[in-house]
Amino acid sequence: MLRGQGNKKAKSAEVEKQRFLGIQLVLYIVNMNSAEIRKRFLDFFRERGHTVVPSSSLLPDDPSVLLTTAGMQQFKRYFTGELDPIKDFQSKNTASIQKSFRTSDIDEVGDESHLTFFEMLGNFSFGGYFKKEAIEYGYEFITKTMGLSIDKVSVFAGDADVPADAESEKIWRALGAGRVDRHGREDNFWGPTGSEGPCGPTTEIYVGGVEGWNIVFNEYYKHLDGRLEKLTNPGVDTGMGLERLAMASQGVPTIFGTDLFSAPLIEPLRRRPEFRSSERAERSLRVIADHVRAATFLIGDGVVPSNKDRGYILRKLIRRAITHANFLQSFPEKVLASLVDGVIDVYMDCYPELGRKRAEIADVFEQEQSAFVKTYARGKKILEKKERLTGQEAFDLYQSYGFPPEVTYEFKPFDWEEFNSAKEGHLKVSAVGGEKKFGGHGLILDTGELKAGSEEEMKRVLRLHTATHLLQQALREVLGNEARQMGSDITPERTRFDFAFPRKMTPDEVKNVENIVNRVIGEDLPVKFEEMPKEKAEKTGALFFFKEKYPERVKVYYVGKTLETAWSKEFCGGPHVGRTGEIGRVKVLKEEAVGAGVRRIRAAVEP
Ligand code: ALA
Repeated sequence: MLRGQGNKKAKSAEVEKQRFLGIQLVLYIVNMNSAEIRKRFLDFFRERGHTVVPSSSLLPDDPSVLLTTAGMQQFKRYFTGELDPIKDFQSKNTASIQKSFRTSDIDEVGDESHLTFFEMLGNFSFGGYFKKEAIEYGYEFITKTMGLSIDKVSVFAGDADVPADAESEKIWRALGAGRVDRHGREDNFWGPTGSEGPCGPTTEIYVGGVEGWNIVFNEYYKHLDGRLEKLTNPGVDTGMGLERLAMASQGVPTIFGTDLFSAPLIEPLRRRPEFRSSERAERSLRVIADHVRAATFLIGDGVVPSNKDRGYILRKLIRRAITHANFLQSFPEKVLASLVDGVIDVYMDCYPELGRKRAEIADVFEQEQSAFVKTYARGKKILEKKERLTGQEAFDLYQSYGFPPEVTYEFKPFDWEEFNSAKEGHLKVSAVGGEKKFGGHGLILDTGELKAGSEEEMKRVLRLHTATHLLQQALREVLGNEARQMGSDITPERTRFDFAFPRKMTPDEVKNVENIVNRVIGEDLPVKFEEMPKEKAEKTGALFFFKEKYPERVKVYYVGKTLETAWSKEFCGGPHVGRTGEIGRVKVLKEEAVGAGVRRIRAAVEP
């Protein structure tokens, strides 16, 4: 048996080696700069009957979104049949490279592959072609035009409302795809979050270790209440990040190593001594690079810094860039301005508006910077004096000194729930409501920690909320009681749980936590609460944040038959699911550092 295993090992090493050499060879031949990739993409679809449409502005006409997040946005009304593509494009098929911006990824920036601003390559069909052509185009472009190998593909697994996409799977098999994964709504269904619009099952192509190309089959229209209605003419909507494709083509381990970032942003920063070492410095450097580039594009499309909506997003990007720079100290004021120049040089051929607005963009950076550095210095002094920061104080720093809360958090962690309630209170008073506009709809549930805009979203956040309690208890079992909650944030897509712990968790520990949570879900235990005076609640051993923040009477939510024997007990306002079985399987998506001694876990529930 041992021998057998040895042989197998040797054999697979050989296969790996050949594969590796094969890939190396291919990469050597196809390493393309981003200008070449853009050109090949548009040529490819032009030659196949698509009309090339210029990128629309980052400021959409569509009032349901703050910024353009996908190539399909400017085409929404062609998918629904309200507008006629033949009349406007002389074809039912189009292709574009769209300037896109996603606030949802902002706190992922700093890893290998996430960005706020990116260029989305996309081809679209409004009742022209469908699955077979769309998949074959994707396959041909990636493998032949780009000369890259496909790691794997995925298709929609089907659920109660939408059937499995057996057709796409069959098409991939016929093309000889080695690995076809099936996933649910979470991964293989695309549509608007929190607003209405075309949507449908997707098939995704993974290239160079990252999710590369998302092909959406728009078969439905999602209404505001979550209801799906079949579209008369199904359409195709695709999106692929140029930066990720460049990363695969150029054989670099992160998007920040591609030609789009390296020469204009990363290299000049890395030449500075304070950016040379440490994981922390590397992350800051990437955040600065992403934010400076994104802010440049926002200003280029006419966004002006303010405390509301898009203006606040822009202000936040510039302030975060400055703050990260200042955490690393001795960062002369002119550095950001010179980075902006580098960005404009790289992009002005494709986006001439940047060249035309060079002086204006520089001015905005300079004004924001000089206004912020003074308040920054004052705020930082306050921050340094505090031993521990409350959520209310973090909110005050944000309110009075413009400190982006997530940057404050990296400096000194605080209780996010408390921060959110301070902010909610403030919003109610001032009726600004900027953040609520994200997604463009009213919230039907908003506890600060939980937010949902429809019944469907509410069901999901309740499952994720109870899952978060299980996660906390499981973390304590695996890591010990020092794993103390520092904050949590729950959206219909995922839960984010921050806790104090001095080191990275091992993969085994993460797996154990996930297994424990799923075991408790499998036991289908009741989830109940009792209301009682705070003093008594403390004696039950229930977990809580900072005692001061709770009212005199509190609810203790527990998982198990009785409060005494419960496996998990927490001070909590609710609401939760009735039994753990309702949660469905939980998956831990990521474990990472967010500040000194604070870790963050993201987890999702099955669709
Ligand atoms: N609209 C799809 C996406 O953004 C292609 O992923």
